[in-house]
Amino acid sequence: MNGAPIQVRITDVGPRDGLQSQKTLVPLAGKQALIEALWAARLPAIEATSFVSPKAVPQMADADALLPAIAVPAGRSLSALVPNQRGLERAVQAGCREIAVVLSATETMNQRNIRMGLDQAIAAARDTLRDAQAQGLATRAYVAVAFACPFEGDTPTGRVRDLSLAMAEAGADEIVIADTIGAAAPSDVQRVLDALLPALPVQRLGLHLHDTRGMALANAWQGLQMGVRRFDASIGGLGGCPFAPGAAGNLATEDLALLCAQAGLDTQLDMAALVRAVDLVESLVGYPVGGRSLRWIRQNLATFAAPCAAPSSTPRTDATHSNHHRQGAAAPQGMNT
Ligand code: COA
Ligand code: ZN
Repeated sequence: MNGAPIQVRITDVGPRDGLQSQKTLVPLAGKQALIEALWAARLPAIEATSFVSPKAVPQMADADALLPAIAVPAGRSLSALVPNQRGLERAVQAGCREIAVVLSATETMNQRNIRMGLDQAIAAARDTLRDAQAQGLATRAYVAVAFACPFEGDTPTGRVRDLSLAMAEAGADEIVIADTIGAAAPSDVQRVLDALLPALPVQRLGLHLHDTRGMALANAWQGLQMGVRRFDASIGGLGGCPFAPGAAGNLATEDLALLCAQAGLDTQLDMAALVRAVDLVESLVGYPVGGRSLRWIRQNLATFAAPCAAPSSTPRTDATHSNHHRQGAAAPQGMNT
């Protein structure tokens, strides 16, 4: 490999996907502090909240006050999920510059999530994207339950392709393929990406992974090997969906950051600041959180020579494993920046 390291863009969805299903209502000041902590960890993008019905998701009821309270550093992006036109209006009113629409790949999930059938949800997502673009907003479109639906089982690959293409044609800047309930294995990620990549530029594709079966990191690696460079993740692995039974935590931001660091991929993230953000999440939700690698990261923070560099090859507290994992860490194949 030559030249600059490959960049991987992580959107932290903890403040939205992570908090939305928490029983403890986190006060606005706590959400604001969390987003500040994520900026401090140099996250390039954060999904801050959602402009949904406060009856449906009480945790997000403060979206109108939260967004204007947050300063967005130059070059970073702060987005919000909107389920319908009303949500878009509220987002614009609050000064939001980037929105995400959510289109589930099955009839039942759309009904449960946004109370629309699939056809109606497609039309609504198109309309919202069009109106957002007309107002100069950047846009993301989630294709939710893209691997399996808690109500309808395995999701047909062809449908994921068709919906993704529809969202691309509607002009979404990023199409986010979401494993909402964390059911996918790397072979499933490969199958879906094999169907999408001939039709869509990989730069417009993102992966949103949940860790229900412990495969989120393996799925991310599969995506990286196939050229995906945009990922959603959630600080501390916080997450779940109140409308999708079985949805567990998201892929933890710190786990993905470590995977990328060890593979020589550049996320720009500051590991020590990420750990501080995890500590803050823990104090906000009141129970232990953290990705699978958090304990190791804590014990080895001093080995991260530069904020986003790989840990040095002689970990201080895990000497028995020496550095053979580093030697084997080649960059994924098929990578182009
Ligand atoms: N923001 C705030 N309130 C909204 C709203 C929005 N974007 N859209 C609708 N509402 C309100 C209406 O004003 C109405 O209020 P009222 O009962 O006080 O009169 C009520 O919600 C019902 O409106 P209706 O248009 O009939 O919506 P609905 O009951 O069909 O619900 C959604 C549709 C999308 C608003 C609702 O299902 C929702 O918010 N879902 C949340 C989805 C979500 O966050 N999922 C997790 C992330 S993928
Ligand atoms: Zn999710």
